[in-house]
Amino acid sequence: MSTSPLDQLREQVGELLATVAAFSTLEELIDGEPFVTGKRSILSALQKALGQLPADERAAAGATLQDARRTVDEALQARRAVLAAAARSAALEADRLDLGDVVLASVQMPYTVGSPGIVANTQRELEDVFVGMGFRVADGPEVETDWFNFEALNIPPAHPSRGMWDTFYVDLGEPETVVLRTHTSPTQIHLMEQAVASGSLPVHAVMPGRCFRRDTPDARHLAAFHQIEGLVVDRGITFADLAGVIETFTQAYFGADIQSRLRPAFFPFTEPSAEFEITCTICRGEGCRTCSQTGWIELGGCGMLDPAVLEAVGIDGDEWSGFAFGFGIDRCAQMRHQIADMRALIENDVRFLRQFS
Ligand code: FA5
Repeated sequence: MSTSPLDQLREQVGELLATVAAFSTLEELIDGEPFVTGKRSILSALQKALGQLPADERAAAGATLQDARRTVDEALQARRAVLAAAARSAALEADRLDLGDVVLASVQMPYTVGSPGIVANTQRELEDVFVGMGFRVADGPEVETDWFNFEALNIPPAHPSRGMWDTFYVDLGEPETVVLRTHTSPTQIHLMEQAVASGSLPVHAVMPGRCFRRDTPDARHLAAFHQIEGLVVDRGITFADLAGVIETFTQAYFGADIQSRLRPAFFPFTEPSAEFEITCTICRGEGCRTCSQTGWIELGGCGMLDPAVLEAVGIDGDEWSGFAFGFGIDRCAQMRHQIADMRALIENDVRFLRQFS
């Protein structure tokens, strides 16, 4: 049984669509296109054959052929789009810089998460000890005027003790000379002035912070270091209260086996004054480079508030008395952790720092 020309055409279209679907690359499609819809295709051959059909059949056959061509054309364009997209992503893939190994390596590297430094930790521990003894923690500026850093503390211009507290001066012209504070003692003045202004005496406070001197760094000194100041202003305060606070602090922070001693000293803003020393924890009192062979390490100074200082801030010395102390926080850290040379605190050697994180 012979098939009609229409059936034959449908069969041809089916084969052409199968050919189009079988193109697996853009190159194959470009090469095969002339045989599917181009001059060398069956569709073009049938187009030519239309002329031989009787005139009354030609229009219908022509329309059918047009439909067939449109179907095959659309399939070809759709396939071209798919293969072109595949070719583009293959090209991108080939051009891509493969960072896989690098990324993986960085993911596998142990993250080094920062942690508070040894001095910051020591400051917090010292604050805890003093808070436990009933002190509050206060703050003060690192940049001071000459008046707060020196004059209000009974250290007039040209006083010899200015020499040991020399620092960076910025002369802004009269009346104020600005200094990077050389000790935390100016915070005493700020706190007493605030207490007088707000009528909130008595004061029991510690004030930690950074200080600056023109000291040459060595085993026990840095040019930028930290102190914690202590201030008590109350009624009936005696030197015995000061000695008791220092002894309690030493036991709480360094342990019962470390001895402390107070040696007479001079500070222009306290009278009487003392230096507070503890057994050198590096050599346990035997004598070493860190303690200059003395067996003792000075942690700070202290004394009873000088009447001239109380007067400078407007506190009645007949009614109120008090004491102050100032310790080196870096020095405390050094003694607590037996660090032979304080410069290790600022050298940023992670092998050293990790021991305390
Ligand atoms: C003072 O700074 C006084 N303001 C202490 C004071 C306060 C006395 C209240 C009386 C009343 P001195 O200069 O001695 O004192 O320093 C006190 C401590 O700070 C020292 O014992 C030491 O522990 C620390 N210190 C001083 N200079 C340095 C430095 N360059 N590097 C590291 N620590 C330092």
